[in-house]
Amino acid sequence: MSNRNDFPEGFLWGAATASFQIEGATTEDGRGRSIWDTFAETPGKVLGGDTGDPADDHYHRYAEDVALMKEMNLGAYRFSVAWPRIVPEGSGAVNQAGIDFYDRLVDSLLEAGVQPWATLYHWDLPQPLEDAGGWPARDTAYRFRDYAQVVAEALGDRVGHWMTINEPWCSAFLGYHNGHHAPGHKDAAQAVAATHHLLLGHGLAVEAIRSTGHPAKVGLAHNQAVIRPHGPTAADARAARRADGVRNRIFTDPLFKGRYPADVLEDLAEISDFSFVSDGDLETISAPLDFLGVNYYSPEFVAASAKGLDPELVSGEGGNAWLASDPEEVHVSQGLPVTHMGWEIDPTGLYDVLQRLAGESGGIDLYVTENGCAFEDTVTEDGRVHDTERTDYYEGHLRAAGEAVRAGIPLRGYFAWSLLDNFEWAWGYSRRFGIVHVDYETQRRTVKDSGLWYATLAGTGRFPE
Ligand code: NOJ
Repeated sequence: MSNRNDFPEGFLWGAATASFQIEGATTEDGRGRSIWDTFAETPGKVLGGDTGDPADDHYHRYAEDVALMKEMNLGAYRFSVAWPRIVPEGSGAVNQAGIDFYDRLVDSLLEAGVQPWATLYHWDLPQPLEDAGGWPARDTAYRFRDYAQVVAEALGDRVGHWMTINEPWCSAFLGYHNGHHAPGHKDAAQAVAATHHLLLGHGLAVEAIRSTGHPAKVGLAHNQAVIRPHGPTAADARAARRADGVRNRIFTDPLFKGRYPADVLEDLAEISDFSFVSDGDLETISAPLDFLGVNYYSPEFVAASAKGLDPELVSGEGGNAWLASDPEEVHVSQGLPVTHMGWEIDPTGLYDVLQRLAGESGGIDLYVTENGCAFEDTVTEDGRVHDTERTDYYEGHLRAAGEAVRAGIPLRGYFAWSLLDNFEWAWGYSRRFGIVHVDYETQRRTVKDSGLWYATLAGTGRFPE
């Protein structure tokens, strides 16, 4: 009897990482500096003063990591290319040693039967480009195009799937609005300009990748937020509509409709006149994609005001509270179980986001390019990591993904975040997202129970008994 949660033949099973989070070796072989090197070295920005070294020392241990992927039955590996390894100054000279590293990585993946899926920008902007204005400056989009061209020419004969940008909202708003991420600026107008130039950079990179003539499938990894009104009031619905505008539609409308949403332009009028949009930009941005990557972790509930709510449940001002004249947006916890990030666990959000994006993206293939959770894992005396909560998280979300497939949503694959415990940005090494545990002292890898569970699913397409 077939299990109703089976996945179709050919469904792609993968795991994901990103360069700065795992590679280490930040000063080796001609790598330039990135905004995350600078940010992490700035006291008070990253928990515990953690930096990009040694991370998982993946730069030297990639062969061992690829062997693990094979052992875990992964069909694909999503990694990112570090721009400062390829173009250390952000523009100009190309560093062959940097290309050589990804050459070796890609070759060993192919040898192991694991498809390489490459992200071109997972947040490590070369510092010289930040010094010249960063993403709020239009020039950065063109430098990104040049870099994308170099990488696509070097690896395009072997890399079949490209993601231009990872989670542009985080780069724009965490980087330039609330300053929680590098480069740590707090300027809403800059965040809005960065949004446009990240999108423009995406569109230009799509052109660059396609211009190489290699048969490439191109998309991006978008963290569409699942935003739900906390209560049934019109005010909460309005707060949710606005939050959805600046979190989601400010990205998806340009990408899929070739325009910025009218309500968002209106909501942001005091902050930005969008004069950075030039003729032709939106055509570039909205070039049809081959697939869309969807990153999902947790839903967000939004209320118009904290008044009358249990203060314990209100997680402070919302991400968009900079709409200064009308700062009504608070995020409200629903009291669901949370991960070590404090993020509420709700797999229905994954189904909802896939359903919505299947509609908005016009039927292109969807892949979950990130989904996963942090918990406080330890290697126990038996030499294993019994991370039952993580397995439960994956099972819940993958059952939702399976429902989506059965409902006809064109979901073709799933990447666990993350293959390895790694540098969790402002949280440093304190938050473990891996399905493989990393002992940062010894660099020893231990496949967690969740990883063994995932390997069985990846190998059979069926949920383990
Ligand atoms: C999103 C990012 O792409 C990734 O780098 C990060 O580690 C995970 N989410 C978890 O926060």
